[in-house]
Order: sequence, then structure tokens, then C-alpha cells
Amino acid sequence: MPHRIQVRAAEVDDVSAIAELLAPFAEKEIILPRSRDDIFQHLQEFVVAFFDEDLAGVAALHIYGSNLAEVRSLVVRDDMQGRDIGRLLLEACEKWGAGLGVACIFALTYVPEFFLSHGYEQVLKESLPHKIWTVCVHCSKFADCDEVAVQKRLSDAPIQPMRVVPILEVDQP
Ligand SMILES: CC(C)(COP(=O)(O)OP(=O)(O)OC[C@H]1O[C@@H](n2cnc3c(N)ncnc32)[C@H](O)[C@@H]1OP(=O)(O)O)[C@@H](O)C(=O)NCCC(=O)NCCS
Repeated sequence: MPHRIQVRAAEVDDVSAIAELLAPFAEKEIILPRSRDDIFQHLQEFVVAFFDEDLAGVAALHIYGSNLAEVRSLVVRDDMQGRDIGRLLLEACEKWGAGLGVACIFALTYVPEFFLSHGYEQVLKESLPHKIWTVCVHCSKFADCDEVAVQKRLSDAPIQPMRVVPILEVDQP
């Protein structure tokens, strides 16, 4: 039977499942921990991927300014990996960022190969602006960060930006 993968913006009802999905990856220190409160407070940053009816993956796009956004909390459930879901989540973040007018997207990662195969280039962590380290100070590895920084210019990339749909639109005489 064919399956359907859907990537969409996260909703309030997704928060518990997102927290459960992220927790084991945070325990293994692959991503930074995200509490339910933290997820609620940043809910507009999250996209979720459903494999049929099941939450299979999640990612978040945190915007620092017009020239920089970060892909955070990108994970795909262990038993769902290798089905293109990670690629679709990353692409959704890129379309979202491009649609919002962000020029460049980066990630701090232990799987640079995944990003490099999607048009990212490795950059020196020191080349990233100081403000990106504000969340990292909560990481136990902050003083000795062994993640790799990767980035991609959205403005040069052949990305079809996601259209930002008006929330309200009225005609007035
Ligand atoms: C990295 C991760 C999100 C990839 O998700 P996925 O759904 O398994 O990846 P996809 O099926 O979309 O793979 C897309 C491509 O990336 C490659 N790829 C996937 N995981 C990879 C990895 N760990 N290392 C290198 N390449 C990888 C695949 O081979 C595939 O390449 P292809 O298109 O040439 O065949 C997933 O493995 C994961 O959740 N890892 C643990 C959490 C993590 O490290 N997240 C990144 C935080 S920045």
C-alpha cells in the first residue's frame, strides 16, 4: 500500500508528541533538550512530518535576522529514517526561510554529510555571529563544542519559496 508523507507547520496538539520524539535524541546529546514549555513558546518555528498518521520527524527554523536562520531540532524517528523524511523537513525549513526573505540558513550538527549532500557547505563556527551561541550556553558541551557548522545561501539556491499566505484580506471601497 502506498504511504503518504506530509510536512506541515506544527500545531498546539502536536506538542506532546514533538517533546516525546525529541527527548531520546536530547538524552544522547545529539540535539539540545526542548521542554514542552520551550516547544510551546517556539511553536511557530516548528514543522512536523507525518508518515501516514504517525509523527515521524520534526525540525525548527529559528530566525536571527534577515541574513541568518538556524535549522534546529531536526530529527527523524529511528525506525523512520532513510525514507526521505529528513530531506523533506530540511527542504520545508528552506522554503519557509526563503519565503520569509531570510538569505542564509545554517546548522550545528554531528551529521554534516547529510547537510553537505543537500547543498550546504562547511564553515568555521567562529564565522557565525555571537548571538547564535545564546542557546548553546545551556549545553553541557558548550566549552568544548564538537559539532560542525554548515550553511547554505538561500538567495542563490534554486529554492521555490513558500508563499506567505495573508491571515486576513479584505477589500474596502
Ligand atoms: C539526519 C537525519 C535527520 C536524516 O533523516 P533521514 O530521514 O534518515 O534522511 P533521508 O532519508 O531524508 O536522507 C536523505 C539523504 O541524506 C543521507 N543521509 C541521511 N542520514 C545521513 C547521515 N546520518 N549521514 C550521512 N548522510 C545521511 C541519505 O543517505 C540520503 O542520501 P541520498 O538522497 O543520496 O540517498 C536522521 O538521520 C536523524 O534524525 N538523525 C539523528 C538526529 C540528528 O543527528 N539530527 C541532525 C541534527 S542537526
